[in-house]
Amino acid sequence: MKDRSPLGDVPIAEFRRQLHKLADWIADYRETIGDIRVAPNDKPGAIRAALPAQPPEHGESFENILADVDRLIVPGMVHWSHPMFLGYFGWTATAPGLLGEIVTAPLNVNAMTWRTSPAATELETVVIDWLRQWLGLPKQFDGVVYDTASVGIMHALAVAREEAAPSTRKRGLIGAQAPVFRIYASDQAHSSVEKASIALGLGEENVQRVPTGAEFRMDMAALRVMIERDLREKFKPLAVVATVGTTSTASVDSVPEIAKICREHKMWLHIDGAYGGGFAMLPEFEWLAEGWTEADSIIINPHKTLYVPLDFSVLYVRDLERLRRVFTLVPEYLRGDTVEAEKNYMDYGIQLGRRFRALKAWVIWRAFGREGMIAFMREHLRLAGLFADWIKIDDRFELAAPVVLPVVCFRFVGPVAGVAEAGPRSATAATADKIDILNSEIVGRINASGRAYLTQTKLRGQTVMRIGLGNVLTTEQHLRNLWELIQKTADEVGAIDLNRPRAVR
Ligand SMILES: Cc1ncc(COP(=O)(O)O)c(C=O)c1O
Repeated sequence: MKDRSPLGDVPIAEFRRQLHKLADWIADYRETIGDIRVAPNDKPGAIRAALPAQPPEHGESFENILADVDRLIVPGMVHWSHPMFLGYFGWTATAPGLLGEIVTAPLNVNAMTWRTSPAATELETVVIDWLRQWLGLPKQFDGVVYDTASVGIMHALAVAREEAAPSTRKRGLIGAQAPVFRIYASDQAHSSVEKASIALGLGEENVQRVPTGAEFRMDMAALRVMIERDLREKFKPLAVVATVGTTSTASVDSVPEIAKICREHKMWLHIDGAYGGGFAMLPEFEWLAEGWTEADSIIINPHKTLYVPLDFSVLYVRDLERLRRVFTLVPEYLRGDTVEAEKNYMDYGIQLGRRFRALKAWVIWRAFGREGMIAFMREHLRLAGLFADWIKIDDRFELAAPVVLPVVCFRFVGPVAGVAEAGPRSATAATADKIDILNSEIVGRINASGRAYLTQTKLRGQTVMRIGLGNVLTTEQHLRNLWELIQKTADEVGAIDLNRPRAVR
């Protein structure tokens, strides 16, 4: 900046003015978000091409930088907080959540040890315990906040590995003469199971995908057969990952039955409740938490369901000391800062430097209270049910999976030009392929239109469309608008004769 010495921070009066401007910018964004495109439709590289390739030599004013955010960044965003963003699980942005993020920024501490950040450490312990109480977990479960569920499961499986092959921490898998471990997860479980296995040297292929039944829940008989087979072949069954709220359909594995099998074979039970776990707060969804007390570890992502802004994921471990034993390591330069009896969260994972994530959770959870969060979750469940009803009464569509949580998977089934037989449940293999293409086409066209955003997935080999509700700004009217858009787009793509050669977008 030309009128300021390069040394020292921005003068406080100027900073105050910038903050006020930014406060208005944030409120304006929130106020008008429903009027802008949900997603851009630019070619990859378009944004980079508009940005200077050279790093800046001279400082610039915040006003200039913010103007470029408006000009270059905002139009290039997928606006996850937009009320018509129904991709993945919807989104958890709220005004109090934003305030929580903002109040965290100036503190900018490193929550690695209690001494370096007493309030951050103790508040983390408090919010982890609040969530434990809300979920009805017994006190033996204590936790740690990580950025994501993927990081959480990696830590959980590291403990499982250490307990099954003691001294792996010290000597490594070969030095500890560890067997070849096997981890079981359903064919609907998240790919973070494989990622964790890769990172821990357990091998991607040693994650065995267990088939699911009609409702996309893990098939218990198949799990038993796979474990028996692996035992005969001298593998060592290490862990089962039970998913409560799978990524595609939000189906829920039977945790009590899986727990029984884990007990029989002395295997680690990890519950992936990243998405679905938060719904156990609702009295009518207490069944979701059946069997959880038998788990060794449970992951919950409040940034998916409980209104905490990304990122905030809690790993609970039955007896958290098991996790600490695997990861505590205090270098000399930190010894002075780690003497207190309070927790040092750096001991519970590979990360040393840690953000003060607990503050934003504390702000949003106080702002809504349990009551407020439950009211929103119930509304999202209601909207999902409504949308499913609309699907059921339109012959051109069918539900592709039961609706358990606020996620709806559905498929356009025709009529399709040039496909005489098309219609619900009548498609031959060839027409099914064509219908796959058309379902992708509908999603592609809607997302490219900028009016809404949804995703697609594959279920039993078929392409289906999918929406997730979780955004407090999404109303019934938004959902009606989306349904009209889907119907209209289906009419358009249904008229495409796929037998005539053409390039689908
Ligand atoms: C069921 C489930 N588990 C784990 C994950 C991974 O979550 P994260 O992005 O926090 O690593 C996801 C992501 O969508 C998920 O759906």
